Amino acid sequence: MKELKEGVYWVGANDWKVRYFHGYELSTHRGSTYNSYLIKDQKTVLIDTVWEPLTDQFLEHLNEVVDIKTIDYIVMNHLEPDHSGALPALMEYLPDTTIIVSKKGEESIHRHYHKDWKLKVVTNGEKLNIGENELTFVEASMLHWPDSMFTYLRGKNILFSNDAFGQHFASSELFNDEVDETEVWQEATKYYANILTPFSRLVAKKIEELQGLNLPIDIIAPSHGILWRKNPMDIVTAYYKWATETPNSNAVIIYNSMWGATHKMAEAIGAGIGDAGVSYKIYNIATADRNDVITEIFKSKGILLGSSTINNGLLTSLMPILEDLQGLKFSNRVAAAFGSFGWSGEGNTILEQYLGKAKIKIIQEGLKIKYMPNDKELEECRNYGKVFAEKMLSEL
Ligand code: FEO
Repeated sequence: MKELKEGVYWVGANDWKVRYFHGYELSTHRGSTYNSYLIKDQKTVLIDTVWEPLTDQFLEHLNEVVDIKTIDYIVMNHLEPDHSGALPALMEYLPDTTIIVSKKGEESIHRHYHKDWKLKVVTNGEKLNIGENELTFVEASMLHWPDSMFTYLRGKNILFSNDAFGQHFASSELFNDEVDETEVWQEATKYYANILTPFSRLVAKKIEELQGLNLPIDIIAPSHGILWRKNPMDIVTAYYKWATETPNSNAVIIYNSMWGATHKMAEAIGAGIGDAGVSYKIYNIATADRNDVITEIFKSKGILLGSSTINNGLLTSLMPILEDLQGLKFSNRVAAAFGSFGWSGEGNTILEQYLGKAKIKIIQEGLKIKYMPNDKELEECRNYGKVFAEKMLSEL
């Protein structure tokens, strides 16, 4: 039995083995959790459920702390299947129990489950007295789905934030002060970069709204991963910084190469970036983890994309990351393209077209080298990297 505070329990599920979060095509190197919470007061309230395959683990945890049939309310902060999947099984025990949802959650629950469950639709700021404590519902639309909301437990000072402030991190422990926090922050950053970046404007607005409410917060309890108990507002501050897009003054080079020429270019360009005093990382996208690369893009001001030209196009291993750049809508970044070619040489132009679609500013004309670069051309690549870095610094 895991207790957050007296009368408030974690009843979720640990997913130790997940390494690929299917819905988001997201790598999860450290597994994940689906956090569900039970509040015992004059009313008994469950906050969220778990992904359907882990229903048994969830019901077992729930049974340890409560007679399931005595639950008065189920709050569904968000209806995505990783949090609502166990709901049909749970409702077999509780067919008449009221499910609390946001306005958008009402549509979401109908469209996902097509059941005639009893719903209570709550609006932003609405309160529900449950005995000694009180729930406040805070709409969090597009953080990260239209139906998303937070639930605040006044009296215990716990913010159940659902996906916001979460991380994919399986753990035997509950709190950030009980684990290696460096790992948790790595996962929190990756989570934001890969899931929340497109909604940054709304994240910033919601955080300003939350700060305006002046809610005393002792614990932030997200629906994935570790709960923030030590300095709980640090993750809120980090989200605000991330949402207002202030990337670090470093660069990332992402490429693939047929026979090593574009690889040599990448290394030489990197050396040039280093000459300008700028830190950089190089990833061959054919072997790197796509979501880890996205996280590096998230942290970087400059992006250099490289591909050999093949069949008048790009090496196909570049395509997922190019799609990600469009979908994630990174702002305040600068970029350039490079690559080797044999006869037609369209690679750079196509990469620049993708950068254009992603609305990323191109600050330097692309660099292409025929077949394998010689020493003079490698020097040209190095100088190209130095000039790129200088231009990048002037854009900060
Ligand atoms: Fe963790 Fe939006 O589901």
